[in-house]
Amino acid sequence: MIYIANWKMYLSFKQELDLFNKIAKENAMLKNLVVCPSFISLKTINDLCPQICLGAQNCADENFGALTGEVSPKSLREIGVQYCIVGHNERRSYFNESINKINKKINLLIDLNIKPIVCIGEPEQISLSEFEEFIKNEIAGLSHMDQVIIAYEPVWAIGSDIEPSFKDIGNRISLIKSMINTKVIYGGNVKSSNIENFKLLPQLDGFLIGRSSTDFEELKKIVK
Ligand code: PGA
Repeated sequence: MIYIANWKMYLSFKQELDLFNKIAKENAMLKNLVVCPSFISLKTINDLCPQICLGAQNCADENFGALTGEVSPKSLREIGVQYCIVGHNERRSYFNESINKINKKINLLIDLNIKPIVCIGEPEQISLSEFEEFIKNEIAGLSHMDQVIIAYEPVWAIGSDIEPSFKDIGNRISLIKSMINTKVIYGGNVKSSNIENFKLLPQLDGFLIGRSSTDFEELKKIVK
């Protein structure tokens, strides 16, 4: 099981370091955890604890250039980043990230040996057959899908209090796995009170956790 903690922009730099310092004291927690803080904390966290698995929440779709405010995959590699979230729904919807851009990022990351965590999820609740069509369309424009981790995140569950149906999630993950031979993790309202049920799904390889990963005690219960 792999646990990806996506801290989004919930915490300030100092708050991220405080949280990380608590995590770093728990060897058992570090084992399967990938911490994805904001860009500004990545290097400091790596310097504090080089054995941590570090992930970025995003990257530029070029390695150099006149791209004000962007961070290149090459720089991420140089500071020890091993994973990078790509195409998160918040990037797609608030920053107009297209499939083409997402694919460019995946290609650059693979070249640098950074594992892309590619987020895919339907915007509203749909049937399994509609879901199959949706996934086919999503992956049609993406390459190297067998070399990424797919984060299945139904958009309607992200940041919500909706309890997803475990059976539906299991079926959808099996479907994705029948199309792509790679690891599939789940994200969307994962918390300590539902994690044990999720862990019963044999198809699942791990979790992408937002809100609950910013609370030390919650995260500890989730990754245990
Ligand atoms: P959430 O976010 O756990 O807060 O629902 C998950 C995600 O956006 O990756």
